[in-house]
Amino acid sequence: MRLLDIGADFPFPATKASARDCGNKSAAGITTLLVKIAFLLAMFDNISKFLVFLETADFHAMKKERQQSKYDLAVHEEQAAYGRRFQFLEFFAGGGMARAGLARNWESVWANDFCEDKALVYQCNWGVKEMRVGDVANVQLDSLPDADMAWGSFPCQDLSLAGDQSGIGSRLDDDKERTRSGTFWPFWRLVSQKHPPLVVLENVVGALTSNDGADLRAITGALCADGYRFGALVMDAQAWVPQSRPRLFIVCVKQTSTIMPNK
Ligand SMILES: C[S@@+](CC[C@H](N)C(=O)[O-])C[C@H]1O[C@@H](n2cnc3c(N)ncnc32)[C@H](O)[C@@H]1O
Repeated sequence: MRLLDIGADFPFPATKASARDCGNKSAAGITTLLVKIAFLLAMFDNISKFLVFLETADFHAMKKERQQSKYDLAVHEEQAAYGRRFQFLEFFAGGGMARAGLARNWESVWANDFCEDKALVYQCNWGVKEMRVGDVANVQLDSLPDADMAWGSFPCQDLSLAGDQSGIGSRLDDDKERTRSGTFWPFWRLVSQKHPPLVVLENVVGALTSNDGADLRAITGALCADGYRFGALVMDAQAWVPQSRPRLFIVCVKQTSTIMPNK
């Protein structure tokens, strides 16, 4: 921090002049001194606010760096013990934002979306190799590579508070009759048979309440029936970006997998 030198050229000519006009040198001196003190106090108030601002900015940057490196370290440790990067299947991949979030610690080995434009965006972002364009209902089980996790950001239109809440229907419905959010079922048919150790479902918070909870009961019932235990959390992107975007994440672990306690 550079301290200001408030000396003879102290920039308050008007104050100096008005004190001199009184013809009283000591009064002028005291007035100048008081003005200097007032100026210093004002400066220090602003400087201290500025320093607090800088400290806060620094603090956030450092905290982020610390969290990232702590997280990276934990993941690297686990992967070293594991002998390779974790691999995942990316259902309803869109432009690949799940892949962006999982970052370099996870390797996408297969991705699917039925929208050609979105698949093109995905391929521009990540390359052409993993993306398979087509309806999830037509994906063959034996075309799926082995992976540690399946990620499913299935469509939200029929669960969203802003939509008509048509819901996801049931496992037994005909695929041709399904709502858009009902594509959860062909996705789940594949995932439950592939049975990876981890599955993550991502959707809007409306999925918690749509149809008085019937959709959530259907989803969690399927998870239990097919050998997964799970926990759910809601995170709002506004903690990181200037937009409120609360999202539900259901993290599922195969019942036969061991969950290591937090260190
Ligand atoms: C909620 S968005 C997921 C967005 C994605 N997380 C991203 O980063 O862009 C759902 C995606 O599912 C795709 N989708 C919808 N119905 C599908 C279907 N029957 N088969 C495959 N993909 C489908 C949509 O094109 C859309 O990209």
